[in-house]
Amino acid sequence: MTTRTAVIASIVLMAAPLWLGAARRTSILETKHNLSSSGKGEIKALSETRVCIFCHSSHNTSAEGPLWNHETTAPGKFKMYERSTMEAKPEQPNGATKLCLSCHDGTIAVGAVLGHGGPIAMKSTGASGEIPAGKKSSLGTDLSGTHPVSFKYGQDLAVGKTNLRWPPVDPEGDVKLDADGYVQCTICHDPHGSRSDKYPFWQKSTFGQVCQVCHAY
Ligand code: HEC
Ligand code: HEC
Ligand code: HEC
Ligand code: HEC
Repeated sequence: MTTRTAVIASIVLMAAPLWLGAARRTSILETKHNLSSSGKGEIKALSETRVCIFCHSSHNTSAEGPLWNHETTAPGKFKMYERSTMEAKPEQPNGATKLCLSCHDGTIAVGAVLGHGGPIAMKSTGASGEIPAGKKSSLGTDLSGTHPVSFKYGQDLAVGKTNLRWPPVDPEGDVKLDADGYVQCTICHDPHGSRSDKYPFWQKSTFGQVCQVCHAY
């Protein structure tokens, strides 16, 4: 081996873990979910420095999610994905989907936390503190254009369908149904960071790696 190829080989070996190993997740601090005053996005607190407080707290939280600290929208008014080709019957938002929509349906203030003595003051929000309606991240209450969520995915649904995998296969365990066996926003998105530099809060490093866990094509 010449010195040059040896050097190249060792560079490749040193770099290997970066691209061969499982993709690393970015820190939440570097994402738009860092809503504290040190946040990187436009929407952030005027003075609150705690990062987790917008979604979790140690006290006075609700049982709707893990130490959940944000007001949620009452279910009932959402339009869910519905198509004759699809057997799954999405319910009104529940589980993690309900938690995501507590900011992303655009009806509740981003700083509307529980047990904090009033909402956290934010900048770049709408008049009532919500994610502004003109932003793509304001999904509204019509979810008919979003991948179906808040339905149970089990063997009964997959039986006889060559394009659905049962059980879902993800050796790394990133893409998964929730504890009740439901598909939620979190099959694709990880609220704490992204493994992709292209897709926001993405569970995998590529788009297709997420879909392939459940869809065969
Ligand atoms: C923008 C909202 C948001 C912020 C900010 C946030 N989380 Fe979460 N977190 C969630 C949601 C939503 C879930 C539920 C995920 C699920 O059910 O799959 C969750 C779940 C968790 C869990 C349960 C285990 C898991 O990973 O599902 C832990 C632990 C956690 N968060 C820790 C933290 C910590 C520590 C911080 C601050 C550094 C933080 N979170 C900031 C939204 C957030
Ligand atoms: C406490 C409020 C809050 C909660 C809860 C929350 N988000 Fe967000 N999220 C935001 C804000 C604010 C932004 C930035 C919006 C903007 O600037 O357009 C954002 C941005 C995003 C983006 C776009 C990121 C980018 O880089 O473009 C995605 C995707 C997202 N959130 C998904 C989720 C999902 C999925 C959940 C639930 C697991 C969730 N969010 C829960 C407040 C929240
Ligand atoms: C099947 C995968 C999948 C599911 C499930 C999913 N999303 Fe997304 N989401 C995406 C992709 C991909 C993007 C990137 C933008 C695009 O290509 O449409 C995105 C973008 C977003 C954005 C940024 C706004 C935008 O259009 O760029 C937000 C906010 C968001 N998703 C929230 C949610 C919430 C809340 C849920 C649950 C109600 C959800 N997502 C369910 C795949 C998904
Ligand atoms: C955790 C499993 C899971 C993941 C991950 C997943 N899906 Fe799905 N998806 C389903 C299930 C289950 C259905 C409902 C199928 C049915 O009832 O016929 C569905 C429905 C759909 C539909 C609607 C089909 C119809 O008949 O209207 C499309 C399109 C789709 N998924 C695309 C995607 C894409 C693209 C991705 C990746 C970004 C993805 N899915 C990720 C499980 C998943």
